[in-house]
Amino acid sequence: MVADIIRLEDAFEVAGFLDSVDVDRHGENFYSAKILGGAEQLESLREQGVKHAIVAIGDNRARLRLADEFASAGFELAVAIHPRAIVATDVRIGAGTVIAAGAVLNPGCTIGRNVIINTAASVDHDCNIGDASHISPGAHIAGNVTIGSCAWVGLGASIIEKVQIGNDAIVGAGALVIRNVPSGVVVAGHPARPIESTSAHD
Ligand SMILES: CC(C)(COP(=O)(O)OP(=O)(O)OC[C@H]1O[C@@H](n2cnc3c(N)ncnc32)[C@H](O)[C@@H]1OP(=O)(O)O)[C@@H](O)C(=O)NCCC(=O)NCCS
Repeated sequence: MVADIIRLEDAFEVAGFLDSVDVDRHGENFYSAKILGGAEQLESLREQGVKHAIVAIGDNRARLRLADEFASAGFELAVAIHPRAIVATDVRIGAGTVIAAGAVLNPGCTIGRNVIINTAASVDHDCNIGDASHISPGAHIAGNVTIGSCAWVGLGASIIEKVQIGNDAIVGAGALVIRNVPSGVVVAGHPARPIESTSAHD
């Protein structure tokens, strides 16, 4: 998805993919570019003149950690905004953030670094979305909502105005959030209430 957005923007050429987990994929073609190897390739890529990188994985903490590693290795984190996302002129967007197709970001929003605003999610006026959070497809966030870092808002969830969602909190798919969610807490349902999550913070 992220490579597709980057190609549609036509601002960068995709030099290749890195995968430090599945070494069997090294050398394979993936989405019209090669999986060049793992993190050991970073230095040689810099030497070859590659200046930008972007982390395209869903795990929020891992995405932030890898983004920091890229930055330490001298890469600038690219921002990927789908040409058919709607982004108000004054929205501030941090490095490494991905805005997918059909997403709407209304005026006065601040979006942190390495955030994912996924397909057709909407973030209304004056929201603040913290670093490495993920707003899943079709989620709707009303005005003046604050979301901490590494939070995950699930598929199709709705959050009413002025609510505050803490760091590492999780809003389950389809939830309707009407009250603040403390850091690290998992909520779900209508209205959303804390649940005993079995695997969310594994
Ligand atoms: C909230 C969530 C993270 C919890 O995952 P989990 O820890 O594995 O939760 P479990 O499956 O163990 O469920 C724990 C309880 O919460 C309930 N529950 C879980 N998710 C729920 C949801 N979204 N809405 C309502 N209830 C939910 C389960 O039914 C279960 O209840 P029970 O104990 O009465 O049977 C997960 O269900 C979820 O909604 N993830 C979001 C997925 C998503 O949006 N993906 C988009 C990717 S781009």
